[in-house]
Amino acid sequence: MSGPLRLTVLGTGYLGTTHAACMASLGFQVLGVDTDPAKVDQLNAGTLPIYEPGLEELLRAGLGSGRLTFTTSYPRAAAFGDVHFICAGTPPRPGSDHADLSQVEGCVAALAPLLERPCLVVGRSTVPVGTARRLAAELTAACDGTELAWNPEFLREGSGVADTLAPARIVAGVTSRRAEQILRQVYTRPLAEGVPFFATGLETAELAKVSANAFLATKISFINAMAEVCEAAGGDVAALSEILGADPRIGPAFLRPGLGFGGGCLPKDIRAFTAWAADMCVGEALGFLREVDSINLRRRARAADLAGELAGGDVTGVPVCVLGAAFKPGSDDVRDSPALDVARILHGLGAQVTVYDPAALASARRASPELGYAGTVADAARDAHVVLLLTEWPEFRALRPDSLGQAVARRNIVDGRNVLDPDEWRDAGWNYRALGAQTGAVSGALLTAGKGRGAGGSELRTGAAPEAHRRRRPGP
Ligand code: UDX
Repeated sequence: MSGPLRLTVLGTGYLGTTHAACMASLGFQVLGVDTDPAKVDQLNAGTLPIYEPGLEELLRAGLGSGRLTFTTSYPRAAAFGDVHFICAGTPPRPGSDHADLSQVEGCVAALAPLLERPCLVVGRSTVPVGTARRLAAELTAACDGTELAWNPEFLREGSGVADTLAPARIVAGVTSRRAEQILRQVYTRPLAEGVPFFATGLETAELAKVSANAFLATKISFINAMAEVCEAAGGDVAALSEILGADPRIGPAFLRPGLGFGGGCLPKDIRAFTAWAADMCVGEALGFLREVDSINLRRRARAADLAGELAGGDVTGVPVCVLGAAFKPGSDDVRDSPALDVARILHGLGAQVTVYDPAALASARRASPELGYAGTVADAARDAHVVLLLTEWPEFRALRPDSLGQAVARRNIVDGRNVLDPDEWRDAGWNYRALGAQTGAVSGALLTAGKGRGAGGSELRTGAAPEAHRRRRPGP
């Protein structure tokens, strides 16, 4: 390979579009490839089919510079690319926890017979361990001198551009120095900026992704298991999370208690990892991930229970306002969304559910047309008997108890993300309930010094006398 590298990106979903636009912004000529002509037309017109901050601007800049374009043509891609990135999705197989690899395999099957010169094919999709080695054999058989590398992505929705251009690390699963050098060339800029680069084998690279997601999911479920314990013990999980996170060996990231994880990655990736482990006869090693999944799902049921308790024991016919539909703020993705799941549970129990979300109304309507929707918080909350805050959008964190109180019929709120200040809401006459918080009159929260809970929740301070660490919180 001589001259500047030309890149193709196979699959233009969330991952592929982000990767293509980011690579063009680094100065590469990039051809994005997708089998869906409507999507290709949309991308070539500079319109992003998904909500992702900063990406549409980057897409348009790439198109405008002439460095980025999209096509449905695999022959064009094969002729164009020195490096081909596979960015196809790996959703669960219908009726199974195993990953459906048909899109990734489809990319290789379409590309391999068309390759006429040595090139590097680089997998970025999340796949079961062993996939890369199998695809490598297929590619090498099809075109002498063509190699496969695995370079897993670690993008978070909502910060995909930053996570691509300035990732925490770059992992290169390779079988030769040549493949490593090519990947170093692709990532010259981030590497020059000090991003760590790990060259390793194919299997370790595949594992890097699935085990990172397993760890993150475990951390979230750990704090949510502590939330269950706090409810029984009279503790306050928000305070506990801050205390645990202050230990540098533990750290505060991914220790936010609440409704738990959802989205298109963590839930399906831990399930696929568990299913793969069972196939490989190492199921016991990952048995804990089933518990991680169960803890996570129990939070959804618990949030619905809390709403029922606030409604007086039965939600049948009760007007309920659900704030949040996206699986997390900064996204319009409702795949395996905890918020939407709770809304569906309450609807199934007979509640009259009205959902509002700043970005995900359209996708939520498509996924759950049976629910009611409103275009503003006030409209969703009008005459509600119970409000549930289930996705921690800034707009919801900034809600004031008195102004929301004007809209509702009864002042009952479930804070599913532990982001409101319980005292402020209780003082304004609300029955406030949170996951992992005590329901009685006396809180176990520590209330002294240092930094407060991010969104203005109970303040934690250090250094005061022990007896000053407790304060009474009015109960519901
Ligand atoms: C995740 C991984 O972070 C990313 O590396 C991988 O490539 C894809 O999956 P993403 O799904 O975009 O990214 O979201 P993330 O920010 O990781 O959050 C996942 C879920 O966990 C969300 O539902 C979020 O609300 C929840 N979460 C996160 C918590 O409940 N508590 C936390 O402390 C952190």
